[in-house]
Amino acid sequence: MRRILLGVGGGIAAYKACELTRLLVKAGDAVQVVMTEAATRFVAPLTFQALSGREVALDLWRPQATGGMDHIDLARAADAFVVAPATADLLARAAQGRGDDLLANLLLARGALPTLLAPAMNRAMWANAAVQRNVALLRGDGVRIAGPGSGEQACGEVGDGRLLEPEQLLAELDALLAPQVLRGRRVLLTAGPTWEPWDEVRYLGNRSSGKMGWALARAAWERGAEVVMVAGPSALEPPHGARVVAVQTARQMRDAVLAELQRAAVDLFVAAAAVADWRPAQVVAGKLKKRAGEAAPALALELNPDILAEVAARADAPYCVGFAAEADDLHAQAQAKRLRKGVPLLVGNIGAQAFGSDDNVCVLVDADGVRALPRAPKLQLARQIIDEAATRLPERRP
Ligand SMILES: Cc1cc2nc3c(=O)[nH]c(=O)nc-3n(C[C@H](O)[C@H](O)[C@H](O)COP(=O)(O)O)c2cc1C
Repeated sequence: MRRILLGVGGGIAAYKACELTRLLVKAGDAVQVVMTEAATRFVAPLTFQALSGREVALDLWRPQATGGMDHIDLARAADAFVVAPATADLLARAAQGRGDDLLANLLLARGALPTLLAPAMNRAMWANAAVQRNVALLRGDGVRIAGPGSGEQACGEVGDGRLLEPEQLLAELDALLAPQVLRGRRVLLTAGPTWEPWDEVRYLGNRSSGKMGWALARAAWERGAEVVMVAGPSALEPPHGARVVAVQTARQMRDAVLAELQRAAVDLFVAAAAVADWRPAQVVAGKLKKRAGEAAPALALELNPDILAEVAARADAPYCVGFAAEADDLHAQAQAKRLRKGVPLLVGNIGAQAFGSDDNVCVLVDADGVRALPRAPKLQLARQIIDEAATRLPERRP
């Protein structure tokens, strides 16, 4: 269980901190909320109290606090400090080391507590030189700044300054606490299915949801990597922090992967996409029509490129991790596929159990043999796989 100190500043986006509290509690975290006086004008403390199951800390001068020391003790008792939303005013006070209310005082007393500030304000306020100066100072002091996002604002303007969404803030918190074993590394992934067109409306596809690839992108980003994900069609929201290159077919996926390898050196390539082995040999223009009395149309197939094998065979190949979705005899099939593709590490799973579900069972196969990863949520498995790959990366190329 992680103990999270959640500071809430006085901005419109304070309502999103309610949802963040709910997500944290759902994830099993213990949440202690601290609000500024201004924050209580936007959301009643009772809302946070009900969501966190704890009394909200509001007052620097609370005599009933143990030893009267809330302004220090609450930071001592936490594993991480998140301030969302962080107002322009809070950023200024934190940058200057002021202690004029309970939240500012806790920021002063945070010591080595991992700390994340999520700014939220009108775009002109965010662009203000003083705000940018304060953000730079805070970064220099070792504080992680999350966001802000861009888009429509409560004031009616459009631009930078939106508080990140609660799910994104949760990802930022996970990143704050993750070992930064991939800092300075570039990770390229493929994810999701491919769609191979037959005519204008029909395609050959597969049941891959993209969940495992998305989880791997998140795990790599949490660990400090720059992440590019070449992704087939999926209903999932883009993973926070990763750059997504959207494709449909295996050939588009191959071209996008090669373009990324060309653009800059890649340290780790993870081929998690369920790439179609074959595509219709002919793409029919328009829509194939069903006509009474006519036989069903024939569908001839053609082999698709093998993206993983092609990347692994390059002279400048990054460290490659493959995926195998098998139907049976997982250990032998996965080991055979690893050798066939020429990759050092391969993750095997049973396709029918893996596709679409939130959790999975995997085996890690390398030259030394097979290691089982017991059933777990895909994000947890992804973290194990990325950590395993990270320990095997060669020294960074000059
Ligand atoms: C309606 C309204 C909305 C506000 N929204 C924001 C905001 O989104 N971000 C921000 O930095 N300040 C915002 N402010 C200004 C802050 O509330 C003000 O600077 C306050 O002193 C911040 O106090 P705090 O930093 O102690 O929470 C808003 C003010 C009002 C009246």
